[in-house]
Amino acid sequence: MSDFFDRFPATGYICAHRGAGSIAPENTLLAFTESRRCGVDLLEADVQATADGELVLFHDESLKRTTDVAERSEYSDRSPWKLSDFSLTELQQLDAGSWFLKTDPFGTVAAAEVKKESFAAIEAQQVPLLHEVLDLCVQNNLPLNLEIKDQAGTAANGIIVGKILSLLKTTRTEHLVLLSSFNHDYLRQVKQLNPAIATAALVEKKHPENLLDYLYDLKVDAYHPDQLITDAELIKQLTAAGMRVSLWTVNDVERARYFSAAGATFICTDWPQRLIQSHHSA
Ligand code: G3P
Ligand code: MG
Repeated sequence: MSDFFDRFPATGYICAHRGAGSIAPENTLLAFTESRRCGVDLLEADVQATADGELVLFHDESLKRTTDVAERSEYSDRSPWKLSDFSLTELQQLDAGSWFLKTDPFGTVAAAEVKKESFAAIEAQQVPLLHEVLDLCVQNNLPLNLEIKDQAGTAANGIIVGKILSLLKTTRTEHLVLLSSFNHDYLRQVKQLNPAIATAALVEKKHPENLLDYLYDLKVDAYHPDQLITDAELIKQLTAAGMRVSLWTVNDVERARYFSAAGATFICTDWPQRLIQSHHSA
């Protein structure tokens, strides 16, 4: 059994979704360091592989939304700019921060919650290596909920799990990381290769049939459904049967309280600064 959950004996821990996308550009080192400063209990990040097999943190399949790739003339013939077609060297030349100031995805720039003094650091953000965030986690004893993005159709599909596990081993972070995925085959592979690593099944639109049996068969340590398809009753049933449940993505303070009271382990949020304050004042 994994010891990842030993550090989470209660409910309602706050998890920074993509490193807290309302504070800084999602899945960047700045987002992870800022959400740590804000006092989150753990980070969530998305991992994918580059064309040359390097593990990087990035959410979308395409680089378009959260980098300046579409404005770069040298990449004009690479549309739709799939991350899996780019090498690490190419990726590291992209600006992964300025889009945040331009599009202000959570309105925190206009509201001056993001301070002008941070703009230069935001504009300097690059796509980080998984390794860099694992170092941050070790230095701060901060756990990571690492979501393995579905690599189907790319060269990394058959090797990403093995690569992640070797990196966790060499960085001695196996106890600090929970591996989650919508691709449940990856979770099976994790448990076959190293049953001591904690896993969580992500589900979006519909709960699988015979849910508990399904989760037991996958040998997962936790269930992570979309909050939109989940209620307190389900959380109570599953936790009574020994299954940990965590929700994503909960940005409403009352809704976070509701799930925590029902027994949810983590609340994955874009707004940890609001939820932490509310949990402390509750
Ligand atoms: O970990 C849950 C959540 O991150 C899944 O959704 O699309 O934000 O990666 P997404
Ligand atoms: Mg994710």
